[in-house]
Amino acid sequence: MTALLETRGVWQRFGGLVANSDVSISVGRGEIVGLIGPNGAGKSTLFNLIAGVLPPTQGSIWFDGEDVTRMPAAERCQRGVGRTFQVVKSFETMTVVDNVIVGALVRNTVMREARRKAHEVLEFTGLAARAGVLASDLVPAEKRRLEVARALATEPKLLLLDEVLTGLTPTEAQTGVALVRKVRDAGITVLMVEHVMEIVMPLVDRAIVLDLGKVLVEGKPADVVRDPKVISAYLGDRHAQSA
Ligand SMILES: Nc1ncnc2c1ncn2[C@@H]1O[C@H](COP(=O)(O)OP(=O)(O)OP(=O)(O)O)[C@@H](O)[C@H]1O
Ligand SMILES: [Mg+2]
Repeated sequence: MTALLETRGVWQRFGGLVANSDVSISVGRGEIVGLIGPNGAGKSTLFNLIAGVLPPTQGSIWFDGEDVTRMPAAERCQRGVGRTFQVVKSFETMTVVDNVIVGALVRNTVMREARRKAHEVLEFTGLAARAGVLASDLVPAEKRRLEVARALATEPKLLLLDEVLTGLTPTEAQTGVALVRKVRDAGITVLMVEHVMEIVMPLVDRAIVLDLGKVLVEGKPADVVRDPKVISAYLGDRHAQSA
């Protein structure tokens, strides 16, 4: 069976800056894959290329057996690419349930059905009790969960999570980890960017390390964390402030 997602020799240049350099990765159906790497490694850029926010400068992106390189973001979402944003993008002046309805409307054009789907997702993500409050009144951990809920409401095959566990307390992060497992158990493939190794490594089936826009190492989490190249990318002088 073909991979659910493949990037083939993907490059992204911003003027003279090379954010992604010949990136070829694949994500199999049902996997949880961790995308890690120091600040500025090109992780969010790669997410934008996969989600269709930007077309790559060069290379191609394949999703569910189809070349989606030139397909607009909304169409990729229809095909089953769901994503969260590193900077939370919820509509602050709308209620939690209305935020999730926005996601659900991608697949349900009848409002009553979108609302039903939204409530189902709020239940799934543990936000049901907060359905009626304004998004701006949520605590940070709940805002992250709302981002996930909004993406799940689009009924993705692939969920791209950009640092949804970052900045949470250890307890909140563990709740987040449990949610990611639940998402995978529901049949959704997960590609997640995360910085905190102790949290992400026990969760993922495979880890891909980006550094300076390139794939540095890829493999089983236990092997990746011991790889000298990974250790030096995180601890080397270049990244002393960001490690
Ligand atoms: N729209 C843009 N225009 C110009 N440069 C950009 C743009 N987006 C990203 N970059 C640059 O591309 C590089 C990769 O950025 P990116 O946000 O992908 O890194 P990241 O791995 O997600 O980092 P972080 O861990 O800090 O979130 C950085 O040098 C960044 O400044
Ligand atoms: Mg980023």
